[in-house]
Amino acid sequence: MQFEIFTSSPARITVDCLVVGVHDGGELSAAAAAIDRQCNGALGRFLKRGDFPGRLAETLLLPAFPRLKATRLLLVGQGGKEVSRRSWRRALAAAVGALSRTKVASAAVALTRPEPRALDDYLFGRSAAETAHGALYRVNDLKSGTKAAAPALSRLVFGPVRPSGAAAARRGLVHGQASGQGARMMRDLANLPGNVCTPSYLAEQSTALAARFPSIRVRVLEEADIRAEKMGCFLAVTQGSDQPPKFIVIEYKASRGPRAPIVLVGKGITFDTGGISLKDPGAMDEMKFDMSGAAAVIATMSVVAELGLPLNVVGLVPTCENMPSGRAIKPGDIVTSAAGVTVEILNTDAEGRLILCDALHYARRFKPQAVVDLATLTGACVIALGMHHTGVMANDDDLARELVESGLRADDRAWQLPLTEEYGEQLKSNFADLANVAGRDGGAITAGAFLARFTKGLRWAHMDIAGSAYVGGGAKGSTGRPVALLTDFLLRRAASRR
Ligand code: BES
Ligand code: MN
Ligand code: ZN
Repeated sequence: MQFEIFTSSPARITVDCLVVGVHDGGELSAAAAAIDRQCNGALGRFLKRGDFPGRLAETLLLPAFPRLKATRLLLVGQGGKEVSRRSWRRALAAAVGALSRTKVASAAVALTRPEPRALDDYLFGRSAAETAHGALYRVNDLKSGTKAAAPALSRLVFGPVRPSGAAAARRGLVHGQASGQGARMMRDLANLPGNVCTPSYLAEQSTALAARFPSIRVRVLEEADIRAEKMGCFLAVTQGSDQPPKFIVIEYKASRGPRAPIVLVGKGITFDTGGISLKDPGAMDEMKFDMSGAAAVIATMSVVAELGLPLNVVGLVPTCENMPSGRAIKPGDIVTSAAGVTVEILNTDAEGRLILCDALHYARRFKPQAVVDLATLTGACVIALGMHHTGVMANDDDLARELVESGLRADDRAWQLPLTEEYGEQLKSNFADLANVAGRDGGAITAGAFLARFTKGLRWAHMDIAGSAYVGGGAKGSTGRPVALLTDFLLRRAASRR
């Protein structure tokens, strides 16, 4: 998909379709008024008839009006004249979705923009590209029969942007193009079923990144290597599965300057049955998404390499299945983590923290400037925040704030939960240094507190994406979150001289 910016009248651009924002009562966006003038007011006269009242995210495709080069006009409802970032995104997604169901190959999109305070020219470009990518995403289903033809759409021109803001908006388009492709990669990985997307598959896909980008190196630790690293907690989770576990190390090195890397750690449970503490069957299929953290890390590494950010980034992906079997761990089993901490596994369904604690310990060897882990870690986080915010917990409030702010800029929001020491005290065990669960109360935070025991001395944040990374129920699927947030975070770290 090719993205461009327009700075003068959209009526002058040679495209198949002009996309025009219409507000309640048939009022035109400012850029659309220019199109109306070009066709001698024919558009305005049409809207006066009241056939298209401009309700948010409604669309209507019309044949071209006189004196316009484009052969079609797409009207898009934008609701009231106060355009919020959210309503703008919804209108844009509806417009791109509608275009993708036609034969239109190129379009100029002239919607009313939110206030510059809410969305400056740079973020306008980035968010437009990300939103368009999101709206064009088609799930990689395994349905037999003929596939719907790929959309004809290949060029989108967004505006209006003042000439003085064009460079910023174009930079935004480049970043949004990369981040949008990253989100698509994450969604493709996470949507695959557990029998296809195995730990070995994730290792192969990571290795493919190294072939695509000379700046990326990938190493895959096999079971024997994982044993040599003494990752007793990770090995405990995988021991009930017939799929071999993998510990994937993805290293991105910028051409310039040796700098302490940022380490991203992603939970890669390719299927979570709960193990002997078996889950209810109801929505168990959704546990194929339990590798969303891993998918987000792999995808974000590709964004970093695509943009060639002046930053060193390491992606760590511990990946295995959580299965019940005659060899599986049992409630009460005690194992020793790579850090030497003994853990009593009271609930085999709290497996994410077990694979993450060994990966977080492994992160130390990189002497990182920051460590961020991403995990569909707890149902309790979904109860606390729903799907709208990712939960952030950290041992460093500045890092937590940085991530929350990146979420705001990227429109991929996150909310900090308090990780004070009381929560850690709930993880006491009679028989080991630590229990892996602490009851229902504050479940998202006690999971964070478990991880905090392994990150002392590191600047670390944990992002619980159980609610944000995928949608359950009817229209099931990965959302691609939080790739946009992470892209913003890494772009800002790359820009600051740390
Ligand atoms: N993968 C799940 C968390 C999850 C639940 C993600 C629902 C998305 C939707 C995790 O491994 C898990 O099972 N957590 C348990 C922890 C409990 C046993 C302390 C949970 O949340 O129930
Ligand atoms: Mn589980
Ligand atoms: Zn899990």
